[in-house]
Amino acid sequence: VANDHVRIIEVGPRDGLQNEKTSIPVETKIELVRRLAATGIETIEAGSFVHPKWVPQMAASDQVLASILANPPKAPHDITYQWLLPNTKGLDNYYKTMDASPSDAYPSPPPSPSQDSGPAMNTSSQDPNAMPSATSGVDAMSQSRASSKIPSGQTHEVSIFMAATEAFSQKNTNCSVQESLDRFAPLMASCRENGYNVRAYISVALGCPFEGPDVDPHRVADIAASLLEMGADEISVADTTGMGTAPRTRKLLQTLKEAGIRSEDLALHFHDTFGQALVNTIISLEHGIRTFDSAVGGLGGCPYSPGATGNVATEDLVYTLHSLGAKTGIDLEEVSRIGEWITGEIGKGNSSSAGRATLSR
Ligand code: HMG
Ligand code: MG
Repeated sequence: VANDHVRIIEVGPRDGLQNEKTSIPVETKIELVRRLAATGIETIEAGSFVHPKWVPQMAASDQVLASILANPPKAPHDITYQWLLPNTKGLDNYYKTMDASPSDAYPSPPPSPSQDSGPAMNTSSQDPNAMPSATSGVDAMSQSRASSKIPSGQTHEVSIFMAATEAFSQKNTNCSVQESLDRFAPLMASCRENGYNVRAYISVALGCPFEGPDVDPHRVADIAASLLEMGADEISVADTTGMGTAPRTRKLLQTLKEAGIRSEDLALHFHDTFGQALVNTIISLEHGIRTFDSAVGGLGGCPYSPGATGNVATEDLVYTLHSLGAKTGIDLEEVSRIGEWITGEIGKGNSSSAGRATLSR
């Protein structure tokens, strides 16, 4: 691990906030993304395009996206923004926001002189000459038009999500595991044709709130293989409930390896409900995993996973990784300040030990 680069996907603005019961002003959400972008974080999951009745807190994600496009957050290097969505309806809404004139979609302040918000296109991720897709149910035309609106220094990606158990799949997305896979085929085809990378989450991979801790690792491996075959660029294996233990995490990672799934195609997404997230991170590092999801301040939780608490705190993850000599590019002190600020904004305790300790030094 020493000297290795470990990629952190900051999911605070999405997973971190989605479960909060009190409505958080969209300005606070945008400010959170802006502050995070300045810390050296490379990838931010900034919102979701899900049904607003199912997850009311994410209803303003289109405004967050529009603001990022209209007034790019200042960052030390290029940032990848990810947008979570479950179906082609969510993808259509994402395309519509991408396609809309930012000034129509969100009243954004003029960019400050120090910010690079020029009209240059991000040609690395978007192909403006891409042929419109004929994929049914998805407004694929919009992407080719939208590509010219992505400012330089930004890449946008889609994250999709499904579950390793039937009970959780029904509760979270109102469909079976197989129906999820069927939904994703046209969705991923559209994303691929239009130049958007796709990461795919497999929820409840180490424990299900309805079916218990013993989720079959072979089932997880089969789903991961199907998603990769369909074109997913990365699989985020999620311990939604925090039930994962060191032995079961090891068993899952061994099973994935035996199924031919490469560690470079995997990310791990630990919730810290039982305080095992960093233990399981160490096990994952030993298995060659170099991408992890986390949320600043240890925010987070899934509305359809009763009792599940926050993601592993970004500050704690960064502290542990740096102690092992790994490089994250993230400024621990800066991210700790954001954890303190956002937990205060939403009236929650800061659950990051490393964050609190860093600030009191
Ligand atoms: P459904 O009711 O079965 O949807 O919900 P439907 O396809 O039958 O459509 C019903 C209506 O909803 C229609 O409108 C659709 O247009 C509309 P109508 O014709 O009746 O006016 N609709 C939508 N509207 C906005 N955005 C959409 C959308 N889709 C349909 N995307 C659905 C199915 C998947 C939509 C619903 O179950 C849902 O939104 N679930 C989201 C749940 C969620 O967001 N959970 C949290 C995120 S996952 C998570 O936290 C886990 C993760 O962190 C990893 C881990 O830790 O495990 C990622
Ligand atoms: Mg989660």
